[in-house]
Amino acid sequence: MTDLRGLPKLELHLHLEGAAPPAFIRNLAARKRVDLSAIFDEDGNYAYRDFPDFLRVYEAACTVLTSPQDFHDLTLAVLEQSAQSGIIYSEAFVSPDFCGGGDLIAWRDYLAAIEVAAATAEAQMGITLRGCVTCIRHFGPEQARQIARCAQETAGGFITGFGIAGDEAQFHPSDFAYAFDAAREAGLGLTAHAGEWGGPESVRAALEHLHVTRIGHGVRAIEDRALVAYLAEHGTVLEICPGSNIALGIYPDTKAHPIDRLRRAGVRVTVSTDDPPFFHTDMHREYQALADAFEWQAEDFAQVNQTALTAAFCDAQTRAALA
Ligand code: ADE
Ligand code: ZN
Repeated sequence: MTDLRGLPKLELHLHLEGAAPPAFIRNLAARKRVDLSAIFDEDGNYAYRDFPDFLRVYEAACTVLTSPQDFHDLTLAVLEQSAQSGIIYSEAFVSPDFCGGGDLIAWRDYLAAIEVAAATAEAQMGITLRGCVTCIRHFGPEQARQIARCAQETAGGFITGFGIAGDEAQFHPSDFAYAFDAAREAGLGLTAHAGEWGGPESVRAALEHLHVTRIGHGVRAIEDRALVAYLAEHGTVLEICPGSNIALGIYPDTKAHPIDRLRRAGVRVTVSTDDPPFFHTDMHREYQALADAFEWQAEDFAQVNQTALTAAFCDAQTRAALA
């Protein structure tokens, strides 16, 4: 079998805060004298019951990320882990909401610190990071407009995309059309979490109202044959995170996960980890699980990475350097 760890990988769907090692958050909490013991289990891992509880724990962990220096250190810690999985390009969701509450001046400072860490990691570990500004759906459309403004003002270079994460059950994609229009005008690539907790209609609505070229997850499109055909025909790229979907209980195991069926139906699929420590995963484990469940070979992973390369929101020069 191929050396899956050594295989160069591209990851398009990673939440920067969601990738924070639990020990990193625990150390910050101790230094800042914040009691976060309730969000960890006895083994020191993040503890949550279900998706709403996951969001609560996630946001509690973010409360100790209070300075640009924290985000600098976080970015380095995350990229170190990513590089160990063989990742050479990572597109991470960065959230102005968790970097100064959406204030533009604060956001610039946090972003500068993230970029310094990214440059260090690139020089030392050969991993390239780009940022996709994300708004949080359950924080509402007004706040999303403010986040889009942060994206607009910092678009270009490091910031290559705009997205929406959070609770898919709240609001409707049309409520976020203004924010996505602003991001599109700023030249950013667009992606939206959909078809994770919502069914096919949620994916259709994201495509119709937000005009995204990529969908975060999108796996529940499998429930609608016509939608699968539409995605294949239009080349919509799915940022699929099998380990996340399994850990959160959407599918019982990798064999039951629709990634292989979507790919066989001609949909452009990519593989990512979402929030690796929350789901006890990393890219190497994701690849290993896919190889075990579906007998994916080196050429299958090469195709998935080629899809990620063409769908990445980075500029042509960066893409050419990765090819
Ligand atoms: N934010 C972090 N992980 C997420 C997920 N899996 N779904 C929606 N929002 C998220
Ligand atoms: Zn996600």
